[in-house]
Amino acid sequence: MKKLRVAVQKSGRLHDDSLKLFHDAGISIDNGKEQLKAASGNFPLEVFYLRNGDIPQYLRDGVVDAAIIGENVLVEKGEDITMAEKLGFSKCRVSLAVPKATKYSEIKDLQGARIATSYPNTVKNYLAKKGITADLHIINGSVEIAPNIGLADAICDIVSSGSTLFKNNLKEVEVMLKSEAVLAVSPGISEERSEILKKLQFRIKSVLRARS
Ligand code: PRP
Ligand code: MG
Repeated sequence: MKKLRVAVQKSGRLHDDSLKLFHDAGISIDNGKEQLKAASGNFPLEVFYLRNGDIPQYLRDGVVDAAIIGENVLVEKGEDITMAEKLGFSKCRVSLAVPKATKYSEIKDLQGARIATSYPNTVKNYLAKKGITADLHIINGSVEIAPNIGLADAICDIVSSGSTLFKNNLKEVEVMLKSEAVLAVSPGISEERSEILKKLQFRIKSVLRARS
């Protein structure tokens, strides 16, 4: 029998809660994340542990049938991919922030600014809607350091507790997106695997109902 291939974040904020969701749904996953692939012994499902940013492309290519992924990653890299279910965990915002000492009253204040971010598409689209052009610097991590080392006037990154902004003397000035973990589906999923996905969704829904 075919198995549903589901991508889960290899390490990071979504990893543990994703596995907990399977667990609470009565789906046991056999081995730890040392293996890049693990199967369930009691549900037709295989888990692939992948890098967050790679998951949209794996879905597009049909290498995996579904994924547990942050909405923020889909908005940035996978607007063509279907969101089947919001999962209620790993809530965060994707926001613009500036140094505390910067005077900021409206988005127009960022006209021509240098903005460091790992979310170039999200920022570009947001600013375009507001009629603002800026100079984007793409960085993959530790984005919040950029204003302190003179690389940027503002940053755009994920805000969860707000502690990274606080530690770097930044203030959140615009919330561009509110995000949480979602179940995303490959556009090329087969009929047979769609049936398994329906069963998985049914279980996930009952877990979410019980949690709320
Ligand atoms: C993430 C994100 C923010 C921070 C937000 O970084 O890029 O910097 O967490 O969380 P907070 O509001 O609770 O502080 P992470 O620590 O994952 O490292 P990275 O930027 O190097 O990927
Ligand atoms: Mg960071």
